[in-house]
Amino acid sequence: MLKLAVFVSGRGSNLRSIHKAVKERRLTAQIVAVVSNLDDAPALAFASNEGIAVLSLEQTPKSEQPRLLLDFLGANGADFIALAGYMKLVPAEVVAAFPHRIVNIHPALLPAFGGKGMYGRRVHEAVIASGAKISGATVHLVDEEYDRGPIVMQRTVIVHDDDTPETLAARVLEVEHVIYPEALQLFADRRVVVVENRIIIRG
Ligand code: GRF
Repeated sequence: MLKLAVFVSGRGSNLRSIHKAVKERRLTAQIVAVVSNLDDAPALAFASNEGIAVLSLEQTPKSEQPRLLLDFLGANGADFIALAGYMKLVPAEVVAAFPHRIVNIHPALLPAFGGKGMYGRRVHEAVIASGAKISGATVHLVDEEYDRGPIVMQRTVIVHDDDTPETLAARVLEVEHVIYPEALQLFADRRVVVVENRIIIRG
């Protein structure tokens, strides 16, 4: 059973899909904490309403955030972190405290269309502008850089000739909601093995 902390910044549809998967027993986990960098993230309100312990970092000076985060995660027994639309880098101290225990979901097929500044609409704009015929979603391990770290799971969607960033984003988001709980379940089942920069799924 994973004791999950989910980090969010925005609307929280991935948080809700993870929460649903837990309720429906498709994911052997408990969401024990939700962290946001913004006080008014809708995802934080959802978590509060569900009775999940929440923490907003917005009023905390950056230098004090790593300690506050580690204390909060420890106090709530979190042993795994899922970033779900979290717009900030995870402090190095937290990355070090959760080795191979932090994942992120990105709305494109990494290592293409990722990195600093590649978030939200911009990702889908770039995919369409590139002429790529497929896009998709990627779940990957997190390190101190944006959108880097070994890939756990990817799933593709077709890019249609008449796609706008919005229509493509919606198609990718549907896939995100499927693969994020599936990828987390691989960790719950201890099937994930990291071999240098690759991930092997056992069994
Ligand atoms: C998703 O597209 C995710 O891939 C990206 O940020 C978005 C978050 O959406 N990292 P939501 O807050 O989960 O609805």
